[in-house]
Amino acid sequence: MNEQQEMNVIQEIRSKVDIVDIVSGYIPLTQKGKNFFGVCPFHDDTNPSMSVSREKQIYRCFSCGASGNVFQFVQDYEHISFKEALRILADKAGVELKGFSYTKAHSKQDKLYEIYEIAQKYYQNNLQTNYGKKAKEYLSGRKIDEEMIKTFGIGLSLDTPSDLVQLLTKKGYDLNTLNQIGLASYDKDLYNSRIMFPLQDLSGRIVGFSGRRYDGIKENKYVNTKGTPIFQKGNTLYHYFDARDEVRKKKCVIVMEGFMAAIRSISIGIGNVVSLMGTAMTKEQAELIKRLSEHVILCFDGDEAGRKATLTNGEELEKLGCEVKVVELTDDLDPDDYILQKGEEAFYRLVQNAVFFSDYKIKSLKKGINLNSDEELAHYINSVIVETSKIKDEIRRELILKTLAKEFDIGYNTLEKRLLVLLEKEKTTLPVETIVSKEKKEKKMDKYTLASLSLLYYMLVNDTARRLFEAGEIFFLTEKQRFLASEIIYYNKIYGMIQIADFYTYLQDKPELLAILHQVLCLELSDDVEDSVILDYVKVTRENSVNQECKRLQKMMREIVDPLEQAKIAEKIRKLKMGS
Ligand code: UTP
Ligand code: MN
Repeated sequence: MNEQQEMNVIQEIRSKVDIVDIVSGYIPLTQKGKNFFGVCPFHDDTNPSMSVSREKQIYRCFSCGASGNVFQFVQDYEHISFKEALRILADKAGVELKGFSYTKAHSKQDKLYEIYEIAQKYYQNNLQTNYGKKAKEYLSGRKIDEEMIKTFGIGLSLDTPSDLVQLLTKKGYDLNTLNQIGLASYDKDLYNSRIMFPLQDLSGRIVGFSGRRYDGIKENKYVNTKGTPIFQKGNTLYHYFDARDEVRKKKCVIVMEGFMAAIRSISIGIGNVVSLMGTAMTKEQAELIKRLSEHVILCFDGDEAGRKATLTNGEELEKLGCEVKVVELTDDLDPDDYILQKGEEAFYRLVQNAVFFSDYKIKSLKKGINLNSDEELAHYINSVIVETSKIKDEIRRELILKTLAKEFDIGYNTLEKRLLVLLEKEKTTLPVETIVSKEKKEKKMDKYTLASLSLLYYMLVNDTARRLFEAGEIFFLTEKQRFLASEIIYYNKIYGMIQIADFYTYLQDKPELLAILHQVLCLELSDDVEDSVILDYVKVTRENSVNQECKRLQKMMREIVDPLEQAKIAEKIRKLKMGS
C-alpha cells in the first residue's frame, strides 16, 4: 500500500468507529446537549472538563488542552503507538490491515528499538550456552527458574570486551548510535559479565538494560542504561506496561523499590506491581503511578532507607490525590527476601492488611520520642492531630482520637476541639475549584491571538475564510499559524472537504502544528459563522500586521540620516495607517 492508500484505510477505520462509544469504554460520559462530558484522564481532575463530540468525532479538554481524534485518545490512554491504536480500532471496525505498514510514521527511532531487540535476543541466547553456566547457577541459587528467565527476558553479557558491538556493526548499525543508546562505550561493549534484565518503556518496548554482577562483589552491583533518546529512568517504572491489566482488575497498584522484588512478586501471582528502580521517585513517576491507579500500596524495603522513602513518596502521592497504603516489612528484608524466607502466604497476608498511610505516619511519629518529656509528648500529640485532620473519613478520625485519648489519658473533647480548629482552617485555605470558562480563556488571550486562532478554525469549516487566506488577506500572527493555514488549504484540495478528526491524523508527524490545532479547537467556536464576523477578524489581523510594519519603518527612520529618505518612509507609514 502506498501512503495515500494507507491514509484512506485509516480514515475508513476512523469513520467506522464512534468516538463516543470508544471513549465511554474508558471513562464514564454523560450527555449534555450535543456533546458528551467526562473527567479528563490526561490530567489530575475531578471536574468533567473533557467534552466529546459525536458530530466532529473529536475530544477536547478545556482544562489541560488535550484534544484529538479516536486514535489519539486510545494511544494516550493506553500509552501505545499510533500503529497499535490503529490495530485495536481496526479490530473494532472490522477492517483488515493486510499489507499495511504505515510508512508515514516510520521514524528514526524505530531503528533504535530494532537494535535493542537484537541485543536482547543475543543476551538471552548467551545465557543458554555453555558460557551461561555460572550465571544460571547464580540465578537458581536466587530461586529464579527457567520460566522466570523467559518471562522477564533475562540474559547474559559475556566477558569478551566487544562481541555485541561487533555483532551490531556487522549488521550495519553505526558505532555512534550504539554509544548514544547506551550499549557501547567507544568501540567496546558497555556490559560485560553481567546478568541482563531488559527494561521497557511505557509502550512495552525494550529500551534499556540493568546488568547485575554475579561474582559476589558488592560494588557496582547494577549497571543501568543512562539517559538516552529513548530511555530515562526517571520517566519509567519497571513493569509499567505489563502491570496495567492486573492493576485494573485489582483496582490498586503496588509500588516497590527494586525490580528483583517486583519480579519475585509477579512470579507468585501478584502482577499489579511496578518498581521505581531505587528509592527516589520523580514527579513523572508519581504521575505514572497515579495514572495506573489512585489506590497505591507502597511496599519498600524494610530498612531505614525504605522507611524514609515510604514517608516522602507517600506524602508526594497523597498530594497528587492518591489514596496511599503501606506494607511494612521488617528485619531489613526486601519483598524478594521476605517471600523467600517467610513464604508466599505470609506475603499475601501482609498485602491484604496494608495499613493506611496516615496510620503508618502516625506510628512513625512516635518512634524515638521521649514519652516522659511533656514537651515532646505534646508535640507528638499535636502532630498526630495534624495528620488526622487530613483524613477524609470521619470514623477513622474519631477512632484515632479515641485511641490517643485512652493511651495518654487526655480528654477526648480536648483533642476533638483542636481537630475541629484545624478542619475549619483547611476548609478556608482549600482552593475553590473553578472550571475555567470559555469566556475567561478568551479574555486571557490578546485580541490578535484570538483573531488568528479563530480564523484558523473558520478555515477548517468555512469556504470564505479559506478564500480570504488564499487571496492573501489574512495576516497570521506567527509563522506556525501560517503553516497550519497552508496545510488546511492543501488538505482541502486533496480531499475536497475537511473532516477535523481525519485532519488530526494527517498532522500526526507535525506536533508543532498539532499544538496550534489544540488551541484552535479549545476555543469551541460555532461552525455557523457570518461572513461579517470573519471579515472583522481579518481586519484585526491586518491591524496587527500594519502595526508591526509601522514599527519596523519607524525604527528604520531613526537610523537613517538622509532627510529625503526619511520623508519617503514617513509617507509610507502614513499610507499604511490609512489602509491603502
Ligand atoms: P537494591 O539494592 O534493594 O536491589 O536496590 P535488590 O533489588 O535487592 O537487588 P539484589 O536482590 O541485590 O539483586 C534497589 C534498586 O536500586 C537500583 C536497582 O534498580 C535496584 O533494583 N540499584 C541498586 C542500582 O541501580 N544500582 C545499584 O548498585 C544498586
Ligand atoms: Mn534483594
